[in-house]
Amino acid sequence: MSEFTTSTRALGIQIRPRLPDFGFDEALPHLHAGAEASTAWINMMSAFTTVAERMFARSSAMMMPLVERPEHREELAAFMQQEALHTSMHERLNRVLRARGYPIEEFQAYLQQMMDAAVEEGGHRMVVAMALAGEQANGVFSDAILDQPGLLVGWDERVRLLFQWHAYEEVEHTAALFDAFLVAMKNPEDAYRLRMWGVAYIASIVLAAWGVGLHAFLEHGRAGDGTSLRRWRELGAFLFGEQGLLRDEDRNLLAYLRRDFHPWQGRDARDRLQKHQAFAPAAWNRDEPRKQATGERGASKLEASSLRAPVVHAREARRFVRFLARLGVKTARFACKTGARTRPGAG
Ligand SMILES: [Fe+2]
Ligand SMILES: [Fe+2]
Repeated sequence: MSEFTTSTRALGIQIRPRLPDFGFDEALPHLHAGAEASTAWINMMSAFTTVAERMFARSSAMMMPLVERPEHREELAAFMQQEALHTSMHERLNRVLRARGYPIEEFQAYLQQMMDAAVEEGGHRMVVAMALAGEQANGVFSDAILDQPGLLVGWDERVRLLFQWHAYEEVEHTAALFDAFLVAMKNPEDAYRLRMWGVAYIASIVLAAWGVGLHAFLEHGRAGDGTSLRRWRELGAFLFGEQGLLRDEDRNLLAYLRRDFHPWQGRDARDRLQKHQAFAPAAWNRDEPRKQATGERGASKLEASSLRAPVVHAREARRFVRFLARLGVKTARFACKTGARTRPGAG
């Protein structure tokens, strides 16, 4: 038996695809926790996550031809399966939200256009760089969802379980992509530089999308005549308040900027997963991940090898500025489009 193990297996964690059976229908409450702000965040994130997850799966397919160890390949395959199942479960919720007139399709199309623009300007490898940073941010949000039960009080039971199951698996697979990236990249300095450009691209996308997305989802879900200020204040408390999603998480998010960062540093994932096993019952386990995952089919060797090209900051900076200009235009267009839809009396 091979002595080699991944950082995830060394902790005794196995990445295991599961298939729950969440169903959402018209009985879904219009408000979670009686709050418009948390409802807007939940609904927006359900739309957001499916686009991000397609990018995560693409990044793992792109790295597959550069990863030789079967242990890493199996983890990448399991990671892709988990993300695909997250997408399919969130799409069930999205269907109900779509029927209620939420701008799900417009928001997803806007996000996809920004990610496409990032790849057109930054190159194919930006898929991997953005996915790495996105996965680590996901891991931090997931820790908060699992550790702060107060955050989820008053959520619809099925929606709460959907997010808890999703958070559980995000913690479980948090190092899979990162470990594969470390072995796929030959030069540690280029690996670090690429990671940092991934942060720049994905942080710009998230800041823009959360800004206009939350506004659009908040306006659509308005339950009464409350002022916009009250709704934004409520949102501030949901994100940064005493039981807020992002409270005290800034240090964990910033840890990613360190050269020696690793997803398991300073996190007790094993204990966290043990404590929350109820969110991932054995009855949901699927078969072992197929070893011949879509990696080889999903990306050409050429595309994959572009990962290893030297990262020259001056050239990347020029590309990034062009990307920011495109992001600004797309964000303004989305804001105008959804603003017109949510304005009283608009069709
Ligand atoms: Fe996911
Ligand atoms: Fe993930």
